[in-house]
Amino acid sequence: MFKVIFLISGAGSNLNAVIEKNNNQYLDIQIAKVISDNEKAKGLDIAKYNKIDTETFDRKKYNSKEISDNILKSIKDLNVDLIVCAGFLTILTGEILKQFKNKIINIHPSLIPSFCGKGMYGKKVHEAVHKAGVKISGCTVHIVNNEIDRGPIIAQRSTEVFFDDTPEDISERVRKIEHKMLVKTIRLISLGNLIIVENKTRKRV
Ligand code: GRF
Repeated sequence: MFKVIFLISGAGSNLNAVIEKNNNQYLDIQIAKVISDNEKAKGLDIAKYNKIDTETFDRKKYNSKEISDNILKSIKDLNVDLIVCAGFLTILTGEILKQFKNKIINIHPSLIPSFCGKGMYGKKVHEAVHKAGVKISGCTVHIVNNEIDRGPIIAQRSTEVFFDDTPEDISERVRKIEHKMLVKTIRLISLGNLIIVENKTRKRV
């Protein structure tokens, strides 16, 4: 069975979407553990409700390097195939990036390379999109490497931004397309159909 770990910090709506699609057999994966860097993350309750193991390394207690190393230790014996950062605020660093090269993905709520990089996460992304007056926003799934939001892009989806939209409206619209895109991307990878060539990716045909 294709084994996946989820890393979360907040609501866990992406995690929930993946669990649902796994339950209805569109996906055939095992979510072996959900790890949070925030003990209050609502997504932990979603995991527990679905009888998935959870663990927390709180950002109030540990720095990014310690959290990254703790995660690596915690999943060492699990034979993990894929790590999914779904709203995970810690920047992964060090050994985990080497041991899981091309096996860590992140979902970002904008069309990379716009509205991304250091400090650009959650609400801030949609506020920046709103302020810039762009007509299109969207979301991206990419491989995690040691440059923030710069790893090879796997999938992107776009959505319109309307004149009267608030940042919350944009966030809500993007969130809906994120769920579908993340589920499809995990399916693609779990079926062994993602090919990575240097800084680009393509589907196996
Ligand atoms: C999503 O918008 C994701 O793109 C971003 O953080 C948010 C997480 O949402 N990285 P949720 O916790 O999955 O509801």
